[in-house]
Amino acid sequence: MTDDLNRLRQDTEQALAAAADMAGLEAVRVAVLGRNGRLTALLKGLGAVPAEQRKERGGALNLLKDEVAALIEARKAVLESHALDARLKAERVDVTLPARPSPEGLIHPISRTIEELVQIFGAQGFSVAEGPDIEDDWKNFTALNIPEDHPARQEHDTFYLPRRLPGGPQQGTRMVLRTHTSPVQIRAMLGSKPPLRVICPGRTYRSDHDATHSPMFHQVEGLVIDRDITMAHLKGCLVDFLRAYFGVEDLPVRFRPSFFPFTEPSAEVDIGCSRKDGQLVIGAGQDWLEILGCGMVHPRVLAAGGIDPNEWQGFAFGMGLERITMLKYGLPDLRPFFESDIRWLRHYGFAALDAASLATGIA
Ligand code: PHE
Repeated sequence: MTDDLNRLRQDTEQALAAAADMAGLEAVRVAVLGRNGRLTALLKGLGAVPAEQRKERGGALNLLKDEVAALIEARKAVLESHALDARLKAERVDVTLPARPSPEGLIHPISRTIEELVQIFGAQGFSVAEGPDIEDDWKNFTALNIPEDHPARQEHDTFYLPRRLPGGPQQGTRMVLRTHTSPVQIRAMLGSKPPLRVICPGRTYRSDHDATHSPMFHQVEGLVIDRDITMAHLKGCLVDFLRAYFGVEDLPVRFRPSFFPFTEPSAEVDIGCSRKDGQLVIGAGQDWLEILGCGMVHPRVLAAGGIDPNEWQGFAFGMGLERITMLKYGLPDLRPFFESDIRWLRHYGFAALDAASLATGIA
C-alpha cells in the first residue's frame, strides 16, 4: 500500500477512535467516504493515473474502502454498546424504594366497594362470575321465571335494543341492556356444573334518573347451589357479609317476606340504623334501612339453568352497589358518581395503592 493510502488509513483510525458518539462517527464517515470525502476523491482521481498503475492502484483503493467501512462498523458497535450501558445505568430501577403514592390516580368508590365485596365473599369461598351488559331477554327475564306479559318487565323500565343488532340473534329473543345482574345466575348455571358459589358484580341499566337512581348503575348478584343449601345458609351468609362490610359487629339485620319471581320464598333484608338530628348512623337504633333482595332459587330457574331441582337447591341475592356505597360513606347524591368530576373523585376516591383486604381492614 502506498504512503498516501497508509496515511489515510491511519488518519481514519485515529479519527474513529476519537469519535465519541454517533454524530462524531458519521462526521468521520462523510470526511472519508462521503461525496467529497478523501477516499472518494482518490477513487475519482483514478482516471488520471497512468494505465499501467491503474489496476494496482484501483485494487488498493477498493481494499482500503472495504477496510474503512469495516472500521466504521466496528466503532459503531462499540459506541452502541457504550450507549446501552449508559442507559442501563441511568435507568436502573431501585426496587427497594418504597412506593410513591400517586397524587393523580384514585380508586372510584364503586370500584372500591367491588374490591371489598370480592374480599368478603372471597373469604366465604365465592368466586367472581361475569356476564355481558347487553343480554338477551330470555336470560334477563324468561329464564328467571318472568313471563312475557309479566308486569316486572315494565317495572324494570327496560332499555330494549333494536331488534336486529349486528351479530345478535335474529328471531324470538330481543336484546336488552340487562336490568339486573340476575341473568348471570343463568349463565353461571349453564356454564358449569353444581355445586356453585359465585358473586357477579357489574353494570346494570334502567331508565330512571334522580338523586338516588341513575340509568346506569351497579349490582352484585350472589348464587349458591348445592344439595342441601337452606334459608339458614342464606341468612348466615348475608348477616356475616353485612356486618363485615359496614364494620359493625352487632349490626341488626332483619329478613322481611317479599316477592321476586326468581326466588321462593323471597325476602328483603333491612339493617338497623338511627337518625339523630338528620344524621344517619348505621347500627343499633329505631329505624330500618332496606339493603337487598334474596331468596331460595325458584325450581323453574334451576331448570332453565339446566340443573335438576329435585337434586339441587340454593339461594340467590342481589343488591345495588351505589346504595351500599352511599350508606357506608355518607354520600348524599348518586349523580356525581358518574359525572367524572375530578374534584368529587379527589374528595371521595381511594388511594390506588391502598387496596381492600381482609388482612388490613376493609373499612
Ligand atoms: N334481581 C333483583 C333486583 O334487581 C334482586 C334479587 C336478586 C332478588 C336475587 C332476589 C334474588 O331487584
